Amino acid sequence: MESNRTVNWKHSILYLAFIYAILYFLHTNLLLDGHPIHIKKWPHLPLRFRHDGTFKILQVADMHFGAGLITRCRDVLPSQFPYCSDLNTTRFLKTMIQLENPDFVAFTGDNIFGPSTSDAAESLLKAFSPVMESGVPWAAILGNHDQESTMTRQELMYFLSLMDYSLSLTNPPSEDIDGFGNYDLSVYGAPGSHLANTSVLNLFFLDSGDRETVEGVRTYGWIKESQLHWLCSVSQGHQGQNQAAETRPVDPAPALAFFHIPIPEVRHLYYQKIVGQFREGVACSMVNSGVLNTLVSIKDVKAVFIGHDHNNDFCGNLEGIWFCYGGGFGYHGYGRAGLPRRGRVILAELGKGDKDWTGVERITTWKRLDDENLSKIDEQVLWESLPTR
Ligand SMILES: *[C@@H]1O[C@H](CO)[C@@H](O)[C@H](O)[C@H]1NC(C)=O
Ligand SMILES: *[C@@H]1O[C@H](CO)[C@@H](O)[C@H](O)[C@H]1NC(C)=O
Ligand SMILES: *[C@@H]1O[C@H](CO)[C@@H](O)[C@H](O)[C@H]1NC(C)=O
Repeated sequence: MESNRTVNWKHSILYLAFIYAILYFLHTNLLLDGHPIHIKKWPHLPLRFRHDGTFKILQVADMHFGAGLITRCRDVLPSQFPYCSDLNTTRFLKTMIQLENPDFVAFTGDNIFGPSTSDAAESLLKAFSPVMESGVPWAAILGNHDQESTMTRQELMYFLSLMDYSLSLTNPPSEDIDGFGNYDLSVYGAPGSHLANTSVLNLFFLDSGDRETVEGVRTYGWIKESQLHWLCSVSQGHQGQNQAAETRPVDPAPALAFFHIPIPEVRHLYYQKIVGQFREGVACSMVNSGVLNTLVSIKDVKAVFIGHDHNNDFCGNLEGIWFCYGGGFGYHGYGRAGLPRRGRVILAELGKGDKDWTGVERITTWKRLDDENLSKIDEQVLWESLPTR
């Protein structure tokens, strides 16, 4: 007969083996419906400026990703057509990430083109694979085509929020606001500086919707009052925080906004000085919900980055706020044969104080074309802080 001690010892071994097996199982091959469960990979948080005082954002507008290799390019030269597919979009995204080495990538909608895929999840995984493999934090909002497949807008935002290195969010938990994917992200000051724990640049993401019918007329979506109300409160919250952290009055941290569908006032830019090209009519909603007025009133948004009209790639200024198109990025989206696909880069730079980095001093932007030289064009300053000394 075994002694109690041996029995206990045997139990302990069995127990440990059991725990180990469970841990092993959880970590390596937990299966759900025959698919391994994927644990989301997170970027290093919070987002913050680099030691050299810079923070670079890549804007990717209108990837229009379909099913991958079998999805053909639209509007390329006849000579380019035979070997052109969604994989060219994938390659361009990889190249842009390698070349510009951004700290963050913002996808401003029509990330996937619903009608060209029979599986939205698969299309999303393929479309975003270059950024997920790069490990660069990113976030996406929806356009008007993303939901035209097997997922609703709500499901898409939920899925996007679970993807590797994604900082995309569904709506703020406690508020009942229109749309899916209204959220804000903060970028902290340089490591070791006195602003290391303060948001010095705020990024606002808004859902501009898809399509709506107004008094029997079909039109594009727009940003609703509930969303603008939320935007005001978030902006005020940030401005209050920064004020509390300092003893003397400080300028509010600048903010950038991202949404898909242009606001109606972007049409006025046809008659104004712009940087870049106005190549097609602005396809916006017939409803003007007062987005520009709100942005002017909250004061911190210095520039807005939009998509939707692939052939427009300009920045123009409306009442002191820049509105910049990303320019069509994806090869399955419409474009113009012979006109290279393009992406926009946004660079924020901190000011240098006596011995420390200060808040954001300058925001610049440029575009890169997917041509043989990856040409850098239309570089411009969007905003500079007023000198304090
Ligand atoms: C698309 O990619 C293929 C394969 O890499 C390449 O041969 C072709 O030139 C690309 N087309 C365009 C329009 O960039
Ligand atoms: C920022 O927070 C970290 C961790 O809480 C702390 O060690 C550091 O001193 C803080 N820096 C500033 C400038 O407040
Ligand atoms: C690329 O650069 C070369 C050398 O500067 C130039 O000859 C060529 O025209 C450029 N191509 C494009 C598409 O800009």
